Amino acid sequence: MDNQIICADALDGLRSLPDGCISMCVTSPPYYGLRDYGIDGQIGTEQSPAAYIARLTEVFREVRRVLRDDGTLWLNIADSYAGSGKGLWSRPVAEQPPSKQAYLQETGSVPADMPVMWDGIKPKDMIGIPWMLAFALRRDGWYLRSDIIWNKINCLPESVSDRPTKSYEHLFLLAKSRSYYYNSDAIKEPITDSSRARYEHGRSEDNKYHAFCSVQTINGSDYFERMQGRETRNKRDVWHISTNSFRMNGHFAMFPEKLVEPCILAGSAAGDTVLDPFFGSGTTGAVAKRLGRRYIGIDINPEYCRKAQERIDEIPEPILREEE
Ligand SMILES: C[S@@+](CC[C@H](N)C(=O)[O-])C[C@H]1O[C@@H](n2cnc3c(N)ncnc32)[C@H](O)[C@@H]1O
Repeated sequence: MDNQIICADALDGLRSLPDGCISMCVTSPPYYGLRDYGIDGQIGTEQSPAAYIARLTEVFREVRRVLRDDGTLWLNIADSYAGSGKGLWSRPVAEQPPSKQAYLQETGSVPADMPVMWDGIKPKDMIGIPWMLAFALRRDGWYLRSDIIWNKINCLPESVSDRPTKSYEHLFLLAKSRSYYYNSDAIKEPITDSSRARYEHGRSEDNKYHAFCSVQTINGSDYFERMQGRETRNKRDVWHISTNSFRMNGHFAMFPEKLVEPCILAGSAAGDTVLDPFFGSGTTGAVAKRLGRRYIGIDINPEYCRKAQERIDEIPEPILREEE
């Protein structure tokens, strides 16, 4: 597929693509009830979490169709609080959809007219959107393979004093098939000093893993012997990444290039096509181009599509390394 940005609703844009034309997808859909992107047909402003999950499940079903059989989906998503007074919840009660008005007119008890589809979720409750979505996708046929925690090392303070500040988001790795393309070597991470000492001496410098020394044989060969001299290890599932570096006027929900980079490196080879059906400022396209991949982006907002194209055009064509 050629590089392209499709300015359309995600579902319509995906339906215009043929089966199996995409190698991998990395994306961050609009979070539930958090932002008004000011455009008809936007996702994230549905009347209930269930409606939001159903809509995203339909979009990702179409993503699965356009993925190659060995393709993966890397899905960045965060939670929302019911009736938090933030984002869409901060609009006056009269402007809220009827289902939300019930929450905002908090009386201390669950309002009688609370729609049943909210399923017991009360104002102030963490809704649990990420896992609701992950389970819905799994039920829909995806293989749920990893829950990577993005630890936002410079997260913004929150004006709360009755719970810890939220400082992480989820990045789910889902696969179309049981067996899929995953280049673990491309994203290996350096081993820690204590691991190095453990491999060399059978224990860490501070003796912390002394008990572990007795487990000499793992997978039929001497574990420490095998690990000696190694400088890297399989990437872990907590990623410590600051929130952003790129800025685009008028877009407030970009994910950082550093979050997207390992997904593309592990999920595709040079020349492969990477999809993002919620393209926004084009972060996925920018990283894909820099890493020598092709991209297809979809976004409902024409202004974002135009600016994303400008952003990507400024990136020089990559010089591919020999092994690629
Ligand atoms: C969280 S932002 C994605 C940001 C992107 N990852 C980046 O780094 O810039 C979600 C995007 O989804 C878009 N969007 C909202 N509803 C949509 C829909 N129905 N179809 C396609 N795009 C939609 C919004 O315009 C917004 O740009």
